[in-house]
Amino acid sequence: MTDTSASLVSIETSGPIALIKLNNPPVNAASHALRAGLVEAMDTLASTSDVKVVAIYGAGTTFIAGADIKEFGMPPKDPWLPEVCNRIEAMEKPVIAVLHGNALGGGLEVAMAAHARIALPGLTIGFPEVTLGILPGAGGTQRAPRLAGISAALDLITTGKRIGAQEALALDLVDRIETGDPRDIAMVAAQDVLDGQLATRRTGERAVEPDPAAIEAAKAQLQKTQPNLFAPHKCVEAVAASTKPLAEGLATERALFEDCMNSPQRAGLIHAFFAERAVTKIPEAKETPRKVETIGVIGGGTMGSGIATSCLLAGVTVIMAERDEEAAARGRSIVEKNLEGAVKRGKLAADKRDAILSNAYSTTTDYRAFADADLVIEAVFEDMDVKKDVFSKLDGICKPGAILATNTSYLDVNEIAAVTKRPQDVIGLHFFSPAHIMRLLEVVVADKTAPDLVATGFALAKRLKKIAVRAGVCDGFIGNRILNTYKAAADYLMMDGASPEEIDNALTNYGFAMGPFAVSDLAGLDIGWAARKRLAPTRPAEERYVPIPDRICEQGWFGRKTGRGFFVYGEDGVTPNPDVLKIIDEEREKAGIAPRSFSEKEITDRIMTAIIMEATTILEDGIALRPIDIDAVYLFGYGFPRFRGGPMHTADAIGAGELVRRIEAYSQEDAYFWKVPALLSELAETGGTFADRNG
Ligand code: 3HC
Ligand code: NAI
Repeated sequence: MTDTSASLVSIETSGPIALIKLNNPPVNAASHALRAGLVEAMDTLASTSDVKVVAIYGAGTTFIAGADIKEFGMPPKDPWLPEVCNRIEAMEKPVIAVLHGNALGGGLEVAMAAHARIALPGLTIGFPEVTLGILPGAGGTQRAPRLAGISAALDLITTGKRIGAQEALALDLVDRIETGDPRDIAMVAAQDVLDGQLATRRTGERAVEPDPAAIEAAKAQLQKTQPNLFAPHKCVEAVAASTKPLAEGLATERALFEDCMNSPQRAGLIHAFFAERAVTKIPEAKETPRKVETIGVIGGGTMGSGIATSCLLAGVTVIMAERDEEAAARGRSIVEKNLEGAVKRGKLAADKRDAILSNAYSTTTDYRAFADADLVIEAVFEDMDVKKDVFSKLDGICKPGAILATNTSYLDVNEIAAVTKRPQDVIGLHFFSPAHIMRLLEVVVADKTAPDLVATGFALAKRLKKIAVRAGVCDGFIGNRILNTYKAAADYLMMDGASPEEIDNALTNYGFAMGPFAVSDLAGLDIGWAARKRLAPTRPAEERYVPIPDRICEQGWFGRKTGRGFFVYGEDGVTPNPDVLKIIDEEREKAGIAPRSFSEKEITDRIMTAIIMEATTILEDGIALRPIDIDAVYLFGYGFPRFRGGPMHTADAIGAGELVRRIEAYSQEDAYFWKVPALLSELAETGGTFADRNG
């Protein structure tokens, strides 16, 4: 037995069997070195006459997680992945792929180019390319239909969904499932081929059954659900070409892949992929997180019950406190309903739900139940006095080292921490509604917050399958501080001539999940109203004030919960509220404003410029660590279009010079609101970008 190479790709031979081991931690991405190594290994083994069969497997936790995404956007280097796959398929000697961990994107394409595939039970396969704004570009769109049929291939390739070994077997994407160590399985499978116990066949030589109905259905579906996205439509075109001879289909795939690569959506989506991971790089990353097994949640309203659900689903014990028995029962029933929803969506087994409700979840009206809790998350009314009262009580009850967290949306975490004798144990954990669904968690670090608390917030987020972003203390932290400016810009547009419907439509056409007025209706207009009343005494005289939202609230219209807000929520759908349009007209007249019309571009330009302006000041103030953290907040908490990569990525696409020009022009109308942040001027002058500041 010889081990011929110590590089990323090594060959082990044993008589007629050659095993190729891929070792490119952490995920065996098909980087240039790995691709070159694989081709070299194929060439070597093709000319080694003793070798009769080849098996490829991955070292570590995975087979191949796909092409190396870090190389995207760089000049391509030979051999490309399509050539690697073609080289494998063309081997005269049979080649088997043994798949464990992940065989994703290019990893699955390498596997499909092999002549047989063995899966290990925990395998995940899929084509995530579409989520990165591209399509499987190494033969995936041609070989998947040859193995699984056009309909199944379309489903996998246009959605990016990931499936397990059993489903892969059912779709003929793998030939067998075997349990054991990948190397040992590779050895046994190779012997099986020699013994005639495992059939091998070139995927490219298989025919594809045409399925024009599936192609048309996929096109119609995507036109309806993903009109803004570029790649999914190209995926369908590529799969449609799979009925042609392989070489022709591969050429079509290549051309469509290039189109996707050149699309700005690709850059935005890949930025989003890295944003999700970049946010974990915090100064406190090396700290050891504190143990969190039992969590107390105070308040069983919208947020408390969502937070409790999220923790219970992650296997944490939860004690929820409310003001009285009735409120506690209400909180409990919301949690039960949330868990029932998880059962219905197939996320939780019914017996597990029953076990959670009887063993891991309890409610109380007495904070003394928190004496042994490792972490208590407060989600009571957004009122400083109420919060201070809660924290001073917790300070007297909770064990030393327990973490005291607030879910406040805007309030000063330093002021809350100051009522305790342990400000080092106080932190903001700002969840988003609905808390058991939304992925974002802002970890708000106050002046005295201990570093290991920050690490604990991030560890908790990971356990809850959330994306944590580190934020500093200010009114609204990262997300809501930007939201205030965003909403103000939308209100000014409304006052000056655009209707709420026009503004919302412009933003949803731009790619936002919802427009600002629909969001306000969903959150409840009374919340903003209360905040405006609270801030009225300190509102600067120069600030332009739009009274329309107050007028709407005065009618008792608080949005969805009352059936009316900016829009009317009736049985036959959502329509603009005609009475609101009257209020808007009246207020414009009172203010002497002659309404003008705004194009969709003018609307989105103003809104995006306002968002970027505030985001830049957040960076200047050190509230966010890096531009990419702001992108993550907006992508994962505020329905920002993922294909645009987030506000700061969008800022770079627009260019600092153009943004400065816009703000200067808008400031002619309102110099108080529109101010050029110093950092933006600096970038415009030096030609710098926000991306340069991501570290
Ligand atoms: N290329 C480069 N780096 C990658 C990578 C890839 N395909 N996949 C993961 N990484 C990096 C991550 O950025 C991260 O780096 P960091 O530690 O420096 O932040 C590290 O590997 C570990 O990744 P995760 O934190 O995500 O680890 P997990 O264990 O949670 O998840 C995974 C592992 C399921 C493989 C997940 O990383 C994943 O889904 N990766 C993306 C897979 C993908 O999209 N593949 C398709 C690529 S496109 C393609 O193949 C084109 C082809 O058709 C031509
Ligand atoms: P809510 O009004 O739905 O729930 C608050 C709950 O707290 C009520 O059930 C109330 O009975 C209970 N409560 C009040 N005082 C209490 C006390 N002293 N002890 C025990 N229970 C008490 O409010 P919501 O929306 O859940 O907000 C809670 C907190 O979360 C606020 O600080 C809010 O700013 C924040 N938040 C809200 C978001 C939202 O979208 N609603 C999003 C993120 C944060």
